[in-house]
Amino acid sequence: MKIFIDTANVEEIKNAYALGIVEGVTTNPSIIAREGKKFEDAIKEISGIVGDETYIFGEVIGLEADKMVKEAHEISKLHKKMIIKIPMCAEGLKAVSLLKKDGIRTCVTLCFSAGQALLASNAGAAFVAPFLGRVDDIGWDGLQLVSEIAEMFAVQDIKTQIVAASTRNPLHVIGLAKCGCDVATVPYKIIMQMIEHPLTRDGLQKFLKDWESVPKN
Ligand code: E4P
Repeated sequence: MKIFIDTANVEEIKNAYALGIVEGVTTNPSIIAREGKKFEDAIKEISGIVGDETYIFGEVIGLEADKMVKEAHEISKLHKKMIIKIPMCAEGLKAVSLLKKDGIRTCVTLCFSAGQALLASNAGAAFVAPFLGRVDDIGWDGLQLVSEIAEMFAVQDIKTQIVAASTRNPLHVIGLAKCGCDVATVPYKIIMQMIEHPLTRDGLQKFLKDWESVPKN
């Protein structure tokens, strides 16, 4: 399963990218707003860090299909492997199918049901983004949702990739990998939590301490 980083923070992207484990960067309007930069500037800066071959996801703001399509064409010019996030709605599906004909790859975002995911794939989306954390937040089961979509796509041999969003902890990421999800987009904090383990830290300290007693000459 691929890991993308869910941030527009330049330091976080630089640090995560240097680890060699990140294959994409996802943003949304809230993530961009946190950085206090113009959208175009933020995307260009990220593009400069990750290079041409890494996916960057940027979202349209328009609510009508024609506006989404126009915005998508503009956003696509900012980075070679740009994926356009389109909100799940009737106008969004229309935009996805029009953009597919134009050769622009899309991700249907704000997906909260298997039915929405199926329609996104039928419209021609390259990615669909179920928000598992927000499903958990209302007392439902986000991993169950992603698992259902993964099973449905496998049975139907659907090529749309699932990029699970709104991940909140390492257990989400492990659960996603086990259920056959294609991509987990995760905040920087989760990547750090996945790296660290108290037994790894203690084990390393012991190795270094014991090494002091090894004769050196
Ligand atoms: C992807 O970029 C999604 O918009 C994002 O993961 C949503 O996360 P949140 O539910 O923590 O805001």
